[in-house]
Amino acid sequence: MLPRLIQGGMGAGVSSWTLAREVSRLGQLGVVSGTALDSILVRRLWDGDPGGHARRAMAAFPSQAIVTAVLARYFRDGGASAASRGQRYKLAPLLRSPLKADRNGLIVLANFVEVSLAKEGHTGVVGINYLEKIQLPTLPSLYGAMLAKVDVVLMGAGIPIEIPAVLDRLTEHLDVAITLDVLDAGDRRFELRFDPASVGLGPIVGAADLPRPAFLPIVSAAILAKALLRKSPDGIQGFVVEGPIAGGHNAPPRGKLQLDEDGEPVYGDRDVVDLEQMRSFGVPFWLAGAYGTRARFLEALAAGARGVQVGTAFAFCEESGLDPDLRHRFLVSIVDGDGEVFTDPVASPTGFPFKVAELMGTLSDDAAYEDRPRLCDLGYLRRAYLRADGTLDYRCPSEPVDDFVRKGGQVADTLGRKCLCNALVTNIGMGQRRPDGYTELPMLTAGNDLASVQAHISPGSLSYHARDVVASLLDGTTCSEDGLNTTAAGIVTGRPSRIHSAAMRPSAGDDWSPDPPPPATVTTDGRPGCGPTTGRPSGRIG
Ligand SMILES: Cc1cc2nc3c(=O)[nH]c(=O)nc-3n(C[C@H](O)[C@H](O)[C@H](O)COP(=O)(O)O)c2cc1C
Repeated sequence: MLPRLIQGGMGAGVSSWTLAREVSRLGQLGVVSGTALDSILVRRLWDGDPGGHARRAMAAFPSQAIVTAVLARYFRDGGASAASRGQRYKLAPLLRSPLKADRNGLIVLANFVEVSLAKEGHTGVVGINYLEKIQLPTLPSLYGAMLAKVDVVLMGAGIPIEIPAVLDRLTEHLDVAITLDVLDAGDRRFELRFDPASVGLGPIVGAADLPRPAFLPIVSAAILAKALLRKSPDGIQGFVVEGPIAGGHNAPPRGKLQLDEDGEPVYGDRDVVDLEQMRSFGVPFWLAGAYGTRARFLEALAAGARGVQVGTAFAFCEESGLDPDLRHRFLVSIVDGDGEVFTDPVASPTGFPFKVAELMGTLSDDAAYEDRPRLCDLGYLRRAYLRADGTLDYRCPSEPVDDFVRKGGQVADTLGRKCLCNALVTNIGMGQRRPDGYTELPMLTAGNDLASVQAHISPGSLSYHARDVVASLLDGTTCSEDGLNTTAAGIVTGRPSRIHSAAMRPSAGDDWSPDPPPPATVTTDGRPGCGPTTGRPSGRIG
């Protein structure tokens, strides 16, 4: 049975291995972000791999040929911070289908490293989070995480209908494929393929089956959960049900997009998740989106959830991957009462609403955004399109407008789009410096639930730890490495089991069913859901 509390995956690198390991060590589900891990590994190595952590994990990677090639290309001994010396980070080649063997190798390795480090030194469960919209690296990423024996895969920002079968096949090191979404392609179907043997890995490690991780899609509607279960009745072990006040990307409102007077998307009754239907599926689910307090945690349990997924409260704790200075500045803005979050309907090239934490000197600042020369050199959010000559190319609405239009895009789609790829890696202290001296700016995301952060800080003390968040949710109970957690309501008991087995399926012996609501003395408004009826989030503190 999976723990009650999931520390949500937060890209890029915010839910780093340091954060996930700490949460897992405390008996809950620590989740590393799987977004852009190849670029993050490249930059860590370019910075000289401070602490030697990446190279320590690499030593256990099954193909030392891949390790040697990656180190030869990207590691700089004593590299210190490239940025501090005014040097540029080396870039991994942009992703294109089909990926070359060395590009696949880098992705497999990077995912292996992050999960291995998160699993070091404890026996708790570790998950990895991917975005369905970022398709090109998905297959080698999953394989790398599975080589490191990841316990849980979570996937949001899309409908990951093909992933359960992929996980099944990768346990046996078999070749896998998913559909590549291609714009302007009419009825033509394209595939992304990955074969562990093609990077020399299948034959090396093929002797032993890999554990099949549990799969938890992140959904915003019961109907999506139903469709996923219909397609893979045995391949899904639960759902995270995320509402529109959660940090990061949000599902767009149902129906025609309407904006309020502040320019934020308006969510209505149709966006409230039908929790009765979720309960009827008989698989566990976790509620996400402003569930970062004890009261909300109990509300979720009362609604029949297995537990909650929390992001924002963890994003600003000491173990998070956020650049300490950036984190500090945002925490100061919260204690000063200036902390504010805007649900930007256009910032993200994905087209999904994206929560932007407002902070001077970041791309949330209009002037700073206007000053940034457009450029696309990381390219995770580019989308494939079919050219007139029948070949594939890629475009991103945040790239230079002329390039986007030349590739068949519309100018209107470029307005207000921000380069999330560069901003997000800058958030974790790995911002690129351009040849012309321009240094990339960060752009923070956070959920509307800033109160869950505020609860842990005061003007005199802006520092808190992941254990404080865990303890506050689970009512101050000690969360030992053994993971035996007993709350005041007596509802969280038991060790987090080692959940991976060769075939990870609900069976008579496994308890994948949702728990009955606990006898907790919880008063709810009768609609303890994930939608806007839990109160319009102001996103403002103070
Ligand atoms: C900084 C940050 C980055 C996030 N990045 C991702 C992500 O890459 N993938 C994802 O599925 N969810 C992402 N999320 C959402 C969290 O995993 C989680 O579901 C959400 O934060 C829960 O709501 P809360 O913010 O109110 O706690 C992110 C959230 C934050 C705060």
